[in-house]
Amino acid sequence: QKVLVLNGPNLNLLGTREPEVYGKQTLQDIHDALVKTANEAGVACECFQSNHEGELVEKIQAARTDTAFIVINAAAYTHTSVALRDALGAVAIPFIEVHISNVHQREPFRHHSYLADKAVGVICGLGIDGYLAALQYAIKHHLKQSP
Ligand code: DQA
Repeated sequence: QKVLVLNGPNLNLLGTREPEVYGKQTLQDIHDALVKTANEAGVACECFQSNHEGELVEKIQAARTDTAFIVINAAAYTHTSVALRDALGAVAIPFIEVHISNVHQREPFRHHSYLADKAVGVICGLGIDGYLAALQYAIKHHLKQSP
């Protein structure tokens, strides 16, 4: 059983994309930090990014068999995607929603999430630390750690 970390559209551009909003760390930096933290706890962690809604839906569906917890930054799909909401509901895997920026300080259309009311919790505005906090919660509460 593993933790699956999902990142949505445009997050592949982290590091160069609006660094004043999203910081200078790359997606690879985030993935490396998550895998390191997970491995230190004896937990498997897979990271996946896609710019395509359907690929994210398929990844969530496939998680049914081997995933104890999902950490998801659905990026813009957060504010648009009934399909991602339904996929998460279909597999019934507990998840935390993460955003690098504080979406509540930004445009009103970012204040609504199609996922948030189904999430265990939502973390926003803490940058990459938000992912790590979500992972640590997952490890503590949802994963069997190998000795
Ligand atoms: C984001 C916030 C979203 O509103 C935006 O569309 C993103 C990134 C964040 O991590 O702060 O692409 O999810």
